[in-house]
Amino acid sequence: TGLRITVLPGDGIGPEVVAQALAVLDAVAPEVEVDVLDRVNATTFARTGAALTDDDLARIRASDALLLGAIGDPSVRSPDYARGVLLRLRFELDLYVNQRPAVLLHARLSPLRDPARRGIDCVIVRENTEGAYTGIGGTLRKWTPHETAIDADVSTYHGVSRVIEHAFRIARREVCVVDKANAVPFGGELWQRCWREAAGRHPGIATSHLYVDVAAMTLVSDPTRFDVVVASNAHGDILSDVAAAVAGGLGAAPSANLDPATGFGLYEPVHGSAPDIAGTGVANPLGAIASLAMLLADHGHEDQAQAIQTAIRSTVDKRRCTPDLGGALTTEQAAAAVIAELA
Ligand code: NAI
Ligand code: MG
Repeated sequence: TGLRITVLPGDGIGPEVVAQALAVLDAVAPEVEVDVLDRVNATTFARTGAALTDDDLARIRASDALLLGAIGDPSVRSPDYARGVLLRLRFELDLYVNQRPAVLLHARLSPLRDPARRGIDCVIVRENTEGAYTGIGGTLRKWTPHETAIDADVSTYHGVSRVIEHAFRIARREVCVVDKANAVPFGGELWQRCWREAAGRHPGIATSHLYVDVAAMTLVSDPTRFDVVVASNAHGDILSDVAAAVAGGLGAAPSANLDPATGFGLYEPVHGSAPDIAGTGVANPLGAIASLAMLLADHGHEDQAQAIQTAIRSTVDKRRCTPDLGGALTTEQAAAAVIAELA
């Protein structure tokens, strides 16, 4: 049986870039079955108080993979919205790996002055189900001068060891483990122990450790030294935006939220719904298109994925891209340029 995917366009530029990813899909693999959940968005949340229903979740589970645009709208201020969609998907589907490759798109897009240091080619592996994003905590003495807000930073042996193990499995030469064990000792000690155990299981892979502040600096000053970087949910969130900027820009950065045990994945651009440019036609579709390529590569369509990657690079080489990458094309024209390169 063929590949069946669900698509969740979401909010803001989400539907704009996802429409273009689907146009690319139609060009490379028209046989893929697509189920679009276009009701899961801020409008539905504002009306009903719940955007992602149990029925939606069942449809997603019944498919092979999910392609998502972005979730978030300035009109919805409740944190329950993003938690109820994106975090619910990541947590309930146990998508414990958030994998974010960062490969230099074009030398002119690098913020680095030294040409010898520009060639970032790494993968940030972000823990995706625990850390600081579990919502465990609370507020005491609210509205008093003694108000105290606590967000627990949760690390479990199960959670930390499996994400570090994944980092070692996908590494080509080295895994750099990032934490803040000098200041956050309990989780830090657990990360360090899981790191040593995983390193022992993978003697062929070199390994190193950096504190997160130094890791952020090194991603900017000497990014070519990294192969795979593994970090907690919050640290990985931040480091992957840094890596995306060093690689050429947030608008082109893809990601995969994975459960390596089942092979199910939620693929999405790293960027959000960009309300500041939504509706203006300038959103870069390459992050969504590259996320589709990751989806295809993981689901038996290696050749099509490779063709999309090559086409993306050549459109950027020719400046046939959106303004954020130095081009002058609209969202739709930039995707059409990718499709033209595929032909
Ligand atoms: P953002 O990623 O949406 O935008 C940051 C900046 O990058 C903006 O100036 C935006 O115009 C620009 N940008 C982003 N994507 C672009 C693209 N494809 N082409 C050209 N420029 C692009 O992050 P922000 O502004 O912090 O968040 C906006 C909303 O998105 C919020 O509601 C936030 O919660 C949500 N969000 C959702 C994510 C998701 O669904 N995975 C991830 C990050 C944010
Ligand atoms: Mg982020």
